[in-house]
Amino acid sequence: PRRILSGIQASGALHLGNYLGALKRFTQLQDTGAPCFLFVADLHAITVWQDPALLTAQTREIAAAYLASGLDPARSVIFPQSAVRAHSELAWIFNCVARLGWLDRMTQFKEKTGKHKERASVGLYTYPVLQAADILLYKATEVPTGEDQKQHLELTRDIAAKFNNDFNAPGFFPLPEPLTQGPAPRVMSLRDGAAKMSKSDPSDQSRINLTDDADTIVAKIRKARTDPDALPETLEGLEGRAEAKNLVTIYAALADMSREAVLAQFAGQGFGAFKPALADLAVASMAPVSAEMRRLMADPTEIDRVLKDGAARAAAIADPVVDEVKKIVGFWRG
Ligand code: TYM
Repeated sequence: PRRILSGIQASGALHLGNYLGALKRFTQLQDTGAPCFLFVADLHAITVWQDPALLTAQTREIAAAYLASGLDPARSVIFPQSAVRAHSELAWIFNCVARLGWLDRMTQFKEKTGKHKERASVGLYTYPVLQAADILLYKATEVPTGEDQKQHLELTRDIAAKFNNDFNAPGFFPLPEPLTQGPAPRVMSLRDGAAKMSKSDPSDQSRINLTDDADTIVAKIRKARTDPDALPETLEGLEGRAEAKNLVTIYAALADMSREAVLAQFAGQGFGAFKPALADLAVASMAPVSAEMRRLMADPTEIDRVLKDGAARAAAIADPVVDEVKKIVGFWRG
């Protein structure tokens, strides 16, 4: 049976990249009828320092974003990762399955730490191992994420295969399918077409936050970096024009159109015409989401009820799996 699973870190504000690369796709997958497990990755968040008071608020904010983008808690299981103990337990066992050489190849760790590796937390290093536990605990079949998670999803498959092989448990963990090829798998910064739109970019002008109001969204798109040329007729015409390509991709993903169809509509027009159309579309798509997030966060009772119920439903699946793993590994069970 199909089982969709994904998570979002509880650190910093959500942006348009998270919305198009993840949230919007989760909702579309839910609407195909497949069961979805979506969690707030708070264990992952603390791999870098998080103020404890803010962590709780950020956890509720991600939950609010799930609900506001259309995930239905009656059909989808929405929960905080740390509320299901099995994630931490399986992560430890997987720390003993994964090889140092595999983790040494993880580009996200290298990008995040740069030259100062010795000052990073050990958790930041084994971060992808915890991610593998998140996925395999639920024997997920499909994992929708942005393109930046591709390497972590490949590592998950390697860990599953090595576990099955080392413990002579063929097929115990199914190899999950990474779904990293959505309509906007890598939304780029509005200031630099070579950099990913990211929570950690120091410039707020580089991203559209899910909580930005309409005026802010319009101003950020107006100031977005572009080039002086008109929009081309074909996708090939966007090659070498990273900023233009990014804005066309964002338009297409927001409007549920192909990029070809967007170009057919705007070919020959300059950014003076395209940007206002994109800004209108972005405001129309995001305003209802951010209004609903604000409503939900004004009184966290509903969010907390969803998270508590989700944690119980998630644990009901995850706990028996980790129990089976402990048996396979040979831990004493009385
Ligand atoms: P995180 O919190 O960094 O990002 C959440 C989701 O948003 C996607 N994303 C983007 N997509 C397109 N363009 C962008 N510029 C962009 N920036 C972010 C991410 O790919 C992700 O889908 N390690 C994960 C969280 C996680 C997880 C998991 C995901 C923990 N356990 C298990 C899947 C399965 C992360 O840090 O995502």
